[in-house]
Amino acid sequence: MSSNFKIAVLVSGNGSNLQSLIDAKKNFFFNSEIKIVISNNNNSYALKRANNNNIKNIFINNDNDLNEILIKEKISLIILAGYLKIIPDFILKKYLIINIHPSLLPKYGGKGMYGLHVHKEVFKNKEIYSGATVHQVTNIIDGGKIIIQEKVNISDCKSPESIQIEVLKVEHNILKKAIKIIEEENIIF
Ligand code: GRF
Repeated sequence: MSSNFKIAVLVSGNGSNLQSLIDAKKNFFFNSEIKIVISNNNNSYALKRANNNNIKNIFINNDNDLNEILIKEKISLIILAGYLKIIPDFILKKYLIINIHPSLLPKYGGKGMYGLHVHKEVFKNKEIYSGATVHQVTNIIDGGKIIIQEKVNISDCKSPESIQIEVLKVEHNILKKAIKIIEEENIIF
């Protein structure tokens, strides 16, 4: 028997990873329900994506409001999909939380390693492979248990931006798979 989670997707920007989850859910790829999309940025395009798909969505500007909404919606799984804020300890302790990171962790992880910063470093080091990782969120930045990781050959990429495009494709492929893995592991938190 697999678990069924009530998911909150936390976002800050474009929300292409959120979109990959919305599409996967439409195709019955996983059982769990995307209950709410929460953004710390009122202009986040991810909020529009949620709206367009009739998913409850909210802008929050502090962690107490975040805490309250998670309780109110009876959330059992939090997905950080391009959420650019640190989750405070009091929330970390209570929830199963996963994050999508645009590199092959433990490489190119840690403080300051987000978005294009990651791809710039990868480019500078002339890596042949990059990729994406979904991992559990703990109080060590990008240091939690790895749930799924996939690599992509980037030897043809001529800029950090082109690496980002290739890596995003991988992100969209593995984030939905991570949900399925967690459902099948029957994790009770
Ligand atoms: C992705 O690269 C993700 O790995 C990172 O932030 C970016 C968000 O992209 N944490 P999007 O908002 O899902 O399009």
